[in-house]
Amino acid sequence: MSMAELNQIGWDEFSGLSSIEKAPYFVENGRSFHALVAQQFSRPMLEELCALATCVRRTAKTREGSAFLQQQLFDKRAMLYFAQPSSRTYLSFYSACQIVGLQTINVRDSATSSEVKGESPEDSVRTFSSYADLIIMRHPAGGFAERIAWMLSNTSRPVPVVNAGSGKDQHPTQALLDIYTLARSFENSGGIDGKKVAFVGDLKRGRTVRSLAWLLTQYQGVKAYFVAPPELQIGDDILKQLDAAGMPYEISRDFAKVIPEVDAIYMTRIQDEWDVDNESSRVNTASYHFTKEHLNILGKDSVIMHPLPRRLEIDPAVDGDPRAVYWRQVRNGMWIRAALILSIFGCDGAVRDYCKEHQL
Ligand code: CP
Repeated sequence: MSMAELNQIGWDEFSGLSSIEKAPYFVENGRSFHALVAQQFSRPMLEELCALATCVRRTAKTREGSAFLQQQLFDKRAMLYFAQPSSRTYLSFYSACQIVGLQTINVRDSATSSEVKGESPEDSVRTFSSYADLIIMRHPAGGFAERIAWMLSNTSRPVPVVNAGSGKDQHPTQALLDIYTLARSFENSGGIDGKKVAFVGDLKRGRTVRSLAWLLTQYQGVKAYFVAPPELQIGDDILKQLDAAGMPYEISRDFAKVIPEVDAIYMTRIQDEWDVDNESSRVNTASYHFTKEHLNILGKDSVIMHPLPRRLEIDPAVDGDPRAVYWRQVRNGMWIRAALILSIFGCDGAVRDYCKEHQL
């Protein structure tokens, strides 16, 4: 299927589309050109990316395999533009680029770019794109990565854009690593289909929750639980998308009641960087913390996840329990991001062949 052309649609029309309607502009023949919204990833794409991530993980275990992976994209450069703080996303993309041989250049703070001289953010990123074959970007403005993808499509040198977190709306590659972690956690118990997943904490401003909740609609029989104080509950826009996709969900304030019912608990921190008037400090979130005592009521095969960073919402005493998989999520992010980059550049076939040939 050919990709809907971003240079054939005006920005006003394009920006007014829903994420589901935008998705065909980012994907061609089942492969992402840009990676901007969770809604562009179908079930077959998710399964292929997870299988490729496993293939990369196994290939990278040997020096010969590492050298093979590094040959894939040694002639390309990636621009890492992070206009918001990041540890995991930045470092996992940086590491993923190293794994597949991509050279990197970076701007980690707009204050070090010529934006401080009055250059527009669009001109800044267009400048970055002149030196790179791939833009990986995090930005506080929702939809800005889409704006850049659209803008570059209307130049003589369009390059793929990967959204590494935008505003409060999307964090699609975090959702990919979450899916990969869920798939690995449940590989011996029927996979993600039919599982119950609770999202807990600041769901209103949690872009990871919004992206992952959508990806779960791609699996059969999944039920979501959104557990939060009313002030921080998930937005109606994403609930409408889940309704349209036919995914059942419950809205709850009772964390202790939900814990024994679910297969996965996805904890999130209070995202008070988005506060306008210190409003988070007036919400009591103490009953939305996962404590050591909660381990006693959690199912024996259930998992505890967190996109991290955490504050108080998971007691570090929980870290040693085998059901706590949030540190595995961190490492899985590197593998699935390497898989995504290989797929964007069409190198996935060569890596799959290598795995097959070496029986990995
Ligand atoms: N999960 C996540 O996005 O972490 P960072 O903000 O550290 O990148």
